[in-house]
Amino acid sequence: MTVSLTQKLIEEHVLVCPKCKTPKLVVKADGYHCGSCMISWPAHCNVPDFFNRYVENERGAELAVAQEFVDRICEVLALGKDPATVKAVSSVLSRASKLKTEVDSLTAEIEDVYDRFFGKDKFDHPAPDAQANQGIGVVFERHYFPPRAGKSEAFSANVRVRNAGAQAWSSRTRNPVALKAEWRGLRGEPAYAHFPIDVAPGRAITMPIRMTAPEAAGDATVRITLECPGSREQASQYLDISVAVGAVRTDHHHVGMVRFDPPIADYGKDHQDALAFLLSYLTRESISRSRILEIGSGPHPQLAWLEDSEVVALDISAPLLELGSLYFGDRFTHRLAFMCADAFDPPFAPGSFDVVGMFSTLHHFPEPDLLLKKLSGLLRPAGVLAVMCEPVGDSLAAASTVRDLLKGINEQVFSTSEYWRIFEAAGLVPLSAKVNGGSLKAILSKK
Ligand SMILES: C[S@@+](CC[C@H](N)C(=O)[O-])C[C@H]1O[C@@H](n2cnc3c(N)ncnc32)[C@H](O)[C@@H]1O
Ligand SMILES: [Zn+2]
Repeated sequence: MTVSLTQKLIEEHVLVCPKCKTPKLVVKADGYHCGSCMISWPAHCNVPDFFNRYVENERGAELAVAQEFVDRICEVLALGKDPATVKAVSSVLSRASKLKTEVDSLTAEIEDVYDRFFGKDKFDHPAPDAQANQGIGVVFERHYFPPRAGKSEAFSANVRVRNAGAQAWSSRTRNPVALKAEWRGLRGEPAYAHFPIDVAPGRAITMPIRMTAPEAAGDATVRITLECPGSREQASQYLDISVAVGAVRTDHHHVGMVRFDPPIADYGKDHQDALAFLLSYLTRESISRSRILEIGSGPHPQLAWLEDSEVVALDISAPLLELGSLYFGDRFTHRLAFMCADAFDPPFAPGSFDVVGMFSTLHHFPEPDLLLKKLSGLLRPAGVLAVMCEPVGDSLAAASTVRDLLKGINEQVFSTSEYWRIFEAAGLVPLSAKVNGGSLKAILSKK
């Protein structure tokens, strides 16, 4: 009998208890059990749920899973029409419709099962609430401004803001709110960023602001406020950011290291291109038979196709992984394991992987630098982080981005130099990187 990758990882003390981190996990009939802290972790369709912090959605009971959806999933995953398989898919989907977490953006990721297979760029953008933009309150959570900018340099920088007021913010009303960025200390043009969706109370959004630096050199401050013209309830809160304006452009050396290739428009082709990019790096460095962790894999881990590798596919969405496990089936279990866990709390011993990779995933995390730092601890000494297919840009206005923001997913878009600062903050250096079709591919190692 072939040993499953999961079993192997347990035996090698790579897979540890998600709670107490001791390598004392045992596989039981209905899940996994820690022999040290005695906690059990459920499993469905061979996928352990190490996140295990789902709470039942109050509206879950009402969400019946349409047979049509089940049939379509079976069809796209080429699972056939065997009654046991159809039943398994049906039970994955009905559990999916009930799952909820304490974090709205994670719940939104899990609820996205249908669109992940059949998503369209069409969506309803509901009319702004009549009470929108009243009683404004804002918390500035973090920013990505460069510490230095060149004279008259045009750049884009993100600011993450949370709506701490009682009503939604809308940029679609007669008195729209906008983020305003003003230069102080040096003369420069103010910039405004309008919200692509209405921002509900309690919600945070990372907003790119297109700026032009002052013509003169010197020390300046950028003051960020939430502006609501016509409203007397102007937010008194602001964020001041120091930016030294000088002769040197901020992103000069960063951009110099990146190869800019011609655009690839297609999502699938872009993923193939990224895989080829990583493969050519691994071949060049004579790295073979790698042990790989893919973060945010969904049902279709890209790195599962690297044939002589062992791949752990991790995601917060148990239903997507369960569908992936049904799709790949028994033929892959010796070298592919699906595991549900929060990427911030991966159940592995430090220094376990040759490659930690992710595709179109980093930009979903509100603190991407902290995530990378955390994950870099899982790398073996010569290991690399592969950050693939990340959107590069300065606007959230693309239809698919607005659609996902409306669903509650934490969509973000960073510029190339913002990615470089994120990598730097995580203690990582790029070994090889390129941008094509507005998509970044970077292979990084620890400093
Ligand atoms: C845009 S999808 C990318 C899916 C796939 N890698 C691709 O390229 O098509 C982002 C994935 O990240 C997962 N994700 C989001 N937050 C996560 C978290 N905290 N821990 C683990 N996975 C997470 C989502 O469930 C989703 O499957
Ligand atoms: Zn334990």
